Amino acid sequence: MKKIAVAKGDGIGPEIMDAVLEIMHHAGAQLEVQMVNMGKQWYEKGFSSGMTPESKEMVESYGILFKGPMETPKGGGMKSINVTARKVWSTYANKRIFKSLPGVKTIFSEAGIPIDITIVRENIEDTYGGIEHMLTHDVALCRRFITRPGSMQVHRYTFEMARKKNAKKVTCGHKANIMKITDGLFLECFYEVAKEYPEIKADDVIVDDLAMKLVVKPNEFDIIVLPNLQGDIISDLCAGLVGGLGFAPSANIGDQISIFEAVHGTAPDITGQNKANPTSLLLSGAMLLRHIGQNAAAENIENALIKTLQDGIHTPDLNKNEGLVVGTKEFAAAIIQRLSDSKPYANNETHSIPSHAKPTENLMMETKFNGTAEIVGVDLFIESNKIPVQVGQILEDAIDHQLWKLVTISNRGTQVYPTGSIYTECINQYRVRIECATKHGTCSQNEILELVTKLSPLFKLCSIEMLMSYNGKKAYSLAQGQ
Ligand code: NAI
Repeated sequence: MKKIAVAKGDGIGPEIMDAVLEIMHHAGAQLEVQMVNMGKQWYEKGFSSGMTPESKEMVESYGILFKGPMETPKGGGMKSINVTARKVWSTYANKRIFKSLPGVKTIFSEAGIPIDITIVRENIEDTYGGIEHMLTHDVALCRRFITRPGSMQVHRYTFEMARKKNAKKVTCGHKANIMKITDGLFLECFYEVAKEYPEIKADDVIVDDLAMKLVVKPNEFDIIVLPNLQGDIISDLCAGLVGGLGFAPSANIGDQISIFEAVHGTAPDITGQNKANPTSLLLSGAMLLRHIGQNAAAENIENALIKTLQDGIHTPDLNKNEGLVVGTKEFAAAIIQRLSDSKPYANNETHSIPSHAKPTENLMMETKFNGTAEIVGVDLFIESNKIPVQVGQILEDAIDHQLWKLVTISNRGTQVYPTGSIYTECINQYRVRIECATKHGTCSQNEILELVTKLSPLFKLCSIEMLMSYNGKKAYSLAQGQ
């Protein structure tokens, strides 16, 4: 028996979770289910994280959370419990499986093209850090984190999974042609990890090209790993290929804690009407069972679901004029009827679940770097409604040219000074790049702060970014047109 924490969720959550737990039980899953308090009503009862401390404790001690969809109350600045749970418990890999299901008609099933794609989406970083600011009344800025340890973690998980599946190929989706530093780092880590798995072909594709190829030739892909935001979009595209979000399971995998959930929301429009389709949550339950090594029960569920759909039995959302339309409960009963005799869970099945010991402190994930790291300048984000040449002149007059060089001024990432185009439309916020002009070309943090203090009366300062050089190589992007 494996203890798991279960949160039924809001809206249709309780209906589909009850149906799914019953199917799992009849399929021979050996689970000790402990209900935890998470979701809308717990926000309303004053728990700002949407869960009680006892529930948090239970999830952390069992290491597995199986959850229904949850609603985040609007307004009041509440953060989504779904995103918070994934991030605070370091479930760094979001794994979603997209497989053609018999009985679910799609353009590809009609054309006889089978689809079996697994997407691994980095789950913690990228723009999902939620670090956003208004720099001026007109300008919003979002910071995008891609880290070396975070990228290595998700790539290693992906290749390990590929090896277990005997997969032939892993593809990295990215936008490194434009975001050379962030996506470039994600891609660099991909090929670094790929070296450890020589039996698996590793290739990469630019994400827009990937979107097109997935629609035209989806059967050419096997496993795809992507940064968070691109992974989010591409996953939903893949869900569309196999019939919609209702058929795509999702697992958020971490080294200590993993979360299994349906990808759709709480469907308030059909709540309490016995209309909800439990398939996505059921397939997520099957992923959970495989994760803890109860493979026979998982297979039993998947086969019974396929038989049910092949027999034309489905919930109303399938939008088909043929077959038998049934409610959630009847759909679950039909699946249970089609389960093979529930074999007791075989203890000799391989357990993939890592040993679960509570850490005593936060894990610091730092990669070794033995080279040189130096400050070579600063990017100042300033507010000004003056035209570029005026901003440039004010700064040229103010800086000590023995120490500093005004290298470029850009507006929305496009260089407007010292050269630029009169046709570049500007907003009231500039990025000013000043590099050290001394012989060695480096400076201290304090020298940067002194420069900032000197320039501060001239403009409203929005943000400061240090310019770094690692092993003598500039570690920042050029402005467009620089
Ligand atoms: P939604 O997924 O709840 O609904 C979109 C449409 O799909 C609706 O017409 C709904 O009836 C239908 N639908 C969804 N799941 C279905 C199912 N299992 N069977 C049949 N039909 C289904 O998305 P929406 O309306 O944008 O969000 C509603 C609420 O759900 C919001 O409060 C949102 O924050 C929350 N949500 C929670 C998620 C989670 O817990 N992981 C994910 C997405 C949304």
